[in-house]
Amino acid sequence: MTRILGIETSCDETAASVVEDGRRILSNVVASQIDLHRQYGGIFPEVASRQHILTIMPVIRQAMAEAELDWDDLDAIAVTYGPGLPGSLLVGVNTAKGLAYGRGLPLIGINHIEGHIYANWLMVEGSSQEISFPLLALIVSGGHTELILMTDHGQYRKLGRTLDDAAGEAFDKVGRLLGLEFPGGPAIERVAREGNPLAFKLPRAWLKGTYDFSFSGLKTAVLRIVQKYEDKVSLTDSAGNRRIAVSQAPSVIRQLPVANLAASFQASVIDVLVEKARMTAEEYQVKLIMLAGGVAANRLLRQQMAERSALPVLYPPPALCTDNAAMIASAGYFRYRAGHRSSWDLDVISNLKLTDG
Ligand code: KG4
Ligand code: ZN
Repeated sequence: MTRILGIETSCDETAASVVEDGRRILSNVVASQIDLHRQYGGIFPEVASRQHILTIMPVIRQAMAEAELDWDDLDAIAVTYGPGLPGSLLVGVNTAKGLAYGRGLPLIGINHIEGHIYANWLMVEGSSQEISFPLLALIVSGGHTELILMTDHGQYRKLGRTLDDAAGEAFDKVGRLLGLEFPGGPAIERVAREGNPLAFKLPRAWLKGTYDFSFSGLKTAVLRIVQKYEDKVSLTDSAGNRRIAVSQAPSVIRQLPVANLAASFQASVIDVLVEKARMTAEEYQVKLIMLAGGVAANRLLRQQMAERSALPVLYPPPALCTDNAAMIASAGYFRYRAGHRSSWDLDVISNLKLTDG
């Protein structure tokens, strides 16, 4: 039995988890900073790293206590060293180094994106799916949108990526345009349930002949619609102002068909993600498709991917799609098993890549 402590601090979640043999979660503690950042409408890097410093040790202690383990029961410590916010990553990496050195444990640096993929290996009740290669991973997070061909553990080939915004970033930006709370992804999914996805005809960037994505045109199309509603209000503005800012005019927000716009936007993003993943999977004759990253928590994406693909589709439970340390411990196990060890000079790499391409 191999037990790995995983540590994750790449963005705004301070997380620690113990996982056995790469699949069995013994503990999984996530301290979210989202309430702290909400007032800024996004992640405030300095606030994030300071908060990690305050929370990291209590979170690790809790993960050890919930796993009911002593330090001697661990085989290694795995930690995210990139990609992410440098100041945030530093807290996790330095803590992991100190603990590993002090306790005489091997240290294993993990790529955050690899962690998201490995969330699919974590056992959840009722899951019995055997995972075989080659597989296609659709990674959709706040910072990444990529189609990755995985031919074995630790073997990745990047087939496609976003040329501009990541899918999660598009959700967050459109959420802001619609006056929804941060992060936009879950907020859009919630209000979209009341909306008609066919209400607005929004663009879909197919970028035919490539495996790449683009979401900035779609975001601009939503912006134009929001501006049209702003203009409508400004025409009837009794003060005679030609235009008034959305923030100054709650009535604009009320008139804006938020649910219909959210549903149409969501349908457009998901249509492209699903169709391109499906076609790529066919072309490369993979055995299964995996969803990974925060946007993989989206119910419509999960449903559509499963419905529109003839292949088995795997996705982690929502809580394991967004940032957590169990996925880092799982990825750490497979690297540990392959003999991978990091040296004591492991440093953060904020733009760390999963593949060379
Ligand atoms: O993987 P993650 O937790 O952090 C990164 O590594 O970026 O992803 C966060 C992203 C945010 O952009 C958030 O809006 C999006 O995932 N997200 C969702 C949903 N839940 C989180 N997007 C769409 N639908 C959701 N239910
Ligand atoms: Zn992430």
